[in-house]
Formats: sequence, C-alpha cells, structure tokens
Amino acid sequence: MAEFQRIINSITKRANKSTDRGNVAAYIPELACVSNQKFGIHLLDIKKSNFSAGDVDEQFSIQSISKVITLAMAMGLIGEQVWQRVDVEPSGDPFNHLSLLEQENGIPRNPLINAGALVIADILVSQLKNPKDEFLDYIKKLADDETISFNPKVAKSEKITGFRNYAAANLLKSYGNLKNDVEVVLDFYFHQCSLEFNCKQLCNTFYFLINRGECQRGNTFLTISQVKRINSLMLTCGFYDEAGEFAFRVGLPGKSGVGGGIVALLPNEYCVATWSPGLNKKGNSALGMMALEHLTTETGLSIF
Ligand code: DON
Repeated sequence: MAEFQRIINSITKRANKSTDRGNVAAYIPELACVSNQKFGIHLLDIKKSNFSAGDVDEQFSIQSISKVITLAMAMGLIGEQVWQRVDVEPSGDPFNHLSLLEQENGIPRNPLINAGALVIADILVSQLKNPKDEFLDYIKKLADDETISFNPKVAKSEKITGFRNYAAANLLKSYGNLKNDVEVVLDFYFHQCSLEFNCKQLCNTFYFLINRGECQRGNTFLTISQVKRINSLMLTCGFYDEAGEFAFRVGLPGKSGVGGGIVALLPNEYCVATWSPGLNKKGNSALGMMALEHLTTETGLSIF
C-alpha cells in the first residue's frame, strides 16, 4: 500500500521534470487558457485508501471522460436497448471523425467517440424530464459529492466552435438516429463535457466500475454484467486511434478527455486519475500516458 504512494511520488517527480508535455487543446478556446505545466495523480484502492501527488486539488474540464458516465446512466435506464443505436467496435479513427458514420448509415462505431456520445445524450434527453439537472444529480450520488457542477463558460465556448459536433449531430439526424432536436442534444452534450472535477473526485466517481457496480456508499448503480461492458469499451475504445497504444503501454481500461484528464482502473483493485493538460498528437494527455505506463510497470498491476 505504502508502495502506491512511493511510486506515485516518483512518477510525479519524473513528470515535473519532463519537457515532452504536449500542447493544450486550442479548438475549444476556453481550454486553451490552462497551463501545460500542471500534473496531478490520485489513486483510490478498493479498500478506499487514497494516494495523491502533484496538482490534485485543482479542477479541470473532464470533456470526453463524461461519455462513460452518460453511458452508465443510459444503460441503467434502458439496458441492452442502447446497442440498437450504437455499436461496440473500436473505430481506429480520431474522436471527431465522421466518414465511418456515413459509411455505416448513422450507427456510430461505439459510445465513446463523439457521434456515439451524441446518441447516448439523445437517449438521456428522451428519458429524463430535466436532463441536465438529473444527470448532475446522478453524478453527485455516484461520487457522493454535492459540489460537482458544469462550467457554463466552457459549454458556451465549445458551442461556438463545435462545428464538427454539429456536423455529426446533423448526420445522425439525417439517418433517424437522433430523436430530439439537434440543438437540444448538443446543449446537453456540451454541458456534460464541461463538467469540472479534480483527480480525487474522478476516482470517487469511477469507484463503482472497480467495485462491481456499487459506489463507495454501497448503492448499486449497474449490474456486474453492465460494468463488464463499460470496462471492455474503455479498453477497446477509450483512447480512439490510440486505444491499442494505451492497452500496449498501460494495460488498463481507461478514458481520456481533451482537458488533459485520464481515468483508468483495475477491477477489484484500484482506480487512478491523472491530469496534465498538454496533449499528444492523438489528443490524449502526454504526461498522463507516461504516468500510467510507469504505474502499471512499477506496481506490476494491470489487467494483463
Ligand atoms: O466534443 C469534443 O470535441 C469535446 N467536447 C470532447 C473531446 C474529447 O475530450 C476527446 N478526448 N480525448
């Protein structure tokens, strides 16, 4: 156990010295203001012990990491029906790619690329009376944390430059795979992406995926089988066209966001979150990838 803290400290030292920090996402103007000098890591183990180092108290925009939480909520609401509208195959393409969507008649490859997440957002908009409020309540319960909130400035900033998401939503609509208004679905999606967490809050939220669907307070959110599905999707699709590289180097199911966060987990053992806003060429946190590779190598704890 103390081993986790020693390893995390040494990873943080290495990260702080690194000159290979990547570039902050600039296509969402509000995200471009964050410094790429930040690095934080938090690990929560199955027995609820916490280990942290670096900039762990600072909140950041979780962006695509939110796609895992919306998927969990949608699966809880409509179960296996989700898979009638979105596939479960890796795309091998960047997160915002559109050509496969057209070739495959409006059925997104998986729920973790943008097009797939828009279908999941559409499901939630259909199922919920007050979608944004109810989604936020769901996360607060999952994380046992009343303070989690959207950042309306980030949501607005993304809306202004969200041309590719508008294109994806319109393409989905043309194939009949978006039931609600394009604007309404995109408003929900831009808000889910704008959620702000620190590394510890992310671990608290994702704990149910290492604990067979039960959050830290003991409430059950998903079945064991649903947890298996989400974790397998994170392994095969969580890093888009870098999913193979992440499995190869890190060997854990995980999910990244262009805000520089990564959350990864080993079922029944631990959940870990890193944050460093500099991204590599595939849009995943450069130091986050490095840190998690060292974590699984030095602890010997990966799914492989
Ligand atoms: O839709 C977008 O482009 C962003 N809100 C989210 C993209 C993202 O985080 C991709 N992940 N690495």
